[in-house]
Amino acid sequence: MDKLSGFVAGLGVAVGLAFSAATAQAQTLPQFSDSSHLGVQTCAGSTCHGAVQPWPNSSVLQNEAVTWAKHDPHAGAYDTLGGERAKRIAANLGIGDAQQAKICLDCHTNNVPQSKRAKNFVLSDGITCEACHGGAENWLGTHIAGVGGHADNLAAGMYPTDQPVARAKLCLSCHYGTKDKFVTHRIMGAGHPRLSFELDTYTFAQPAHFRVDSDYRQRKTWTNGVKTWAIGQAVAVQEILTALTDPGRNQDGIFPELVFFDCHACHHPMSNLRWQPRESVGLGPGIPRLNDGNLIMLRVVAGVIDADLGAKIEAQTLALHQASTKGHEATLAAADELKRTMDGLIQKVSGHGFGGDQMERVLNALIGVGLEGEFVDYIAAEQATYAIGTVIAALEASGRLKGDALARANTALDGAYKAVENDESFKPSDYLAAIESVRSAVQ
Ligand code: HEC
Ligand code: HEC
Ligand code: HEC
Ligand code: HEC
Repeated sequence: MDKLSGFVAGLGVAVGLAFSAATAQAQTLPQFSDSSHLGVQTCAGSTCHGAVQPWPNSSVLQNEAVTWAKHDPHAGAYDTLGGERAKRIAANLGIGDAQQAKICLDCHTNNVPQSKRAKNFVLSDGITCEACHGGAENWLGTHIAGVGGHADNLAAGMYPTDQPVARAKLCLSCHYGTKDKFVTHRIMGAGHPRLSFELDTYTFAQPAHFRVDSDYRQRKTWTNGVKTWAIGQAVAVQEILTALTDPGRNQDGIFPELVFFDCHACHHPMSNLRWQPRESVGLGPGIPRLNDGNLIMLRVVAGVIDADLGAKIEAQTLALHQASTKGHEATLAAADELKRTMDGLIQKVSGHGFGGDQMERVLNALIGVGLEGEFVDYIAAEQATYAIGTVIAALEASGRLKGDALARANTALDGAYKAVENDESFKPSDYLAAIESVRSAVQ
């Protein structure tokens, strides 16, 4: 959280009007598609995306490769695997050199099969353009010739990073994991950092190599930050429930896979007493609970669209928490129930307009849930902070929040970021006070 907070807290995000519903087609992730990957060198020519300065008269910036190489942590992700922390993780796991271990390379590089690596492909370049935009084999030609538009590129296999559902699936494939690559509690226990993600916040925290202006909005799918956040939550919950019900991922010997649980239920100093009851969980003290940070957010999203749906998610989340004390089978059955509620939900969220007074409704719902005491667990508080930041930025961009009110809201947001700065010394009462200041700032 600390690295992101400074950047995001003071962010004046350029957010456009809600765009038409994003198409939610099933899309093969770049790592697993049929196209060959040509390598960064192919994208980074000085007349292509490797310009030193942005071009004045071009719709795209053209200096993407420089931004990526100099500022984007994705470019250094392979080098990370050669560092001290990675060496420690690899040694603890007994997997040899992390820079050669598939499990690490799958998320820290563009680890496509050998047969998909063209002449200029270099694995040590890390998470390259094609790891997100897709193997360029079939779209490079028309793309360079400048004859087609974005739709033609997509038809030729470019990954639709502009569409929020597809983007969420792409980012979460590494920032949460899939059945093929997953950071288990064993990998965490060996020293891997906790994974935290929120689609809108992380989109803006990645050093910007694209500019959203009116031209961009004409060419591409664009959704406002609140909607991007909402879709990101729906996709995250779907990924979590898929993992939780996946027999290959949900158990480790006699224990359940601990990565599904709230990390800080187990990991905080014993002197920092902070347990307090939560009605929506209904478990007593001393019991590890499933991490429900994203489920709380989804409940807020769903509640704004349809109050009954929000209530249903809340009831089924409570049932899931209760089932977790009754054993593996009961937990799976409850997770399956919740998963059925997810059917069609991503499309429903994508089809909903989150502009206008919907943004205020989301903010009020977040504040309401916070004041009820739902953000007493660190991860939920972290997610709430990302969410509040996103809504305030979107309200600012739409002109609905300005002047003194905006300044007060941002000060309150800084307070929320401060309260989640350190997960181990996190105090629920400080966070509650931060939510109270957000409330008084926006009223
Ligand atoms: C191929 C896997 C992969 C994909 C796809 C991916 N990331 Fe990442 N991302 C990583 C890894 C690994 C790191 C850590 C890099 C490091 O520090 O070595 C990272 C780091 C980041 C960071 C910096 C986080 C911090 O704490 O400073 C941001 C922001 C980020 N990613 C955003 C995104 C977004 C947004 C997307 C989707 C558009 C995305 N990522 C897609 C693997 C991926
Ligand atoms: C499911 C994808 C995934 C897998 C598998 C994975 N990582 Fe990561 N790793 C990430 C992401 C995402 C981050 C960035 C987390 C953040 O800052 O939010 C990261 C961060 C790290 C960091 C900290 C980087 C920093 O600068 O703080 C190290 C070290 C690391 N990973 C090593 C490894 C090693 C070693 C392996 C193999 C055992 C591995 N990772 C496997 C996704 C993954
Ligand atoms: C971690 C994922 C990720 C990586 C790595 C990445 N991009 Fe992107 N890129 C995005 C996202 C997300 C967007 C915004 C959505 C969109 O416009 O498709 C984007 C947008 C763009 C755009 C569109 C600008 C516009 O106005 O239409 C270009 C061009 C681009 N990237 C080029 C590159 C190049 C070149 C590289 C490598 C040097 C690269 N990207 C690396 C995720 C990534
Ligand atoms: C049910 C309790 C429980 C939960 C939940 C849990 N852990 Fe653990 N964790 C443990 C235990 C037990 C160990 C082993 C401690 C030891 O060997 O000293 C451990 C070890 C670790 C370590 C290594 C600490 C060390 O001393 O090297 C890390 C890092 C870690 N866990 C991270 C996480 C993260 C991140 C999460 C949430 C995604 C999480 N844990 C969830 C119980 C838990």
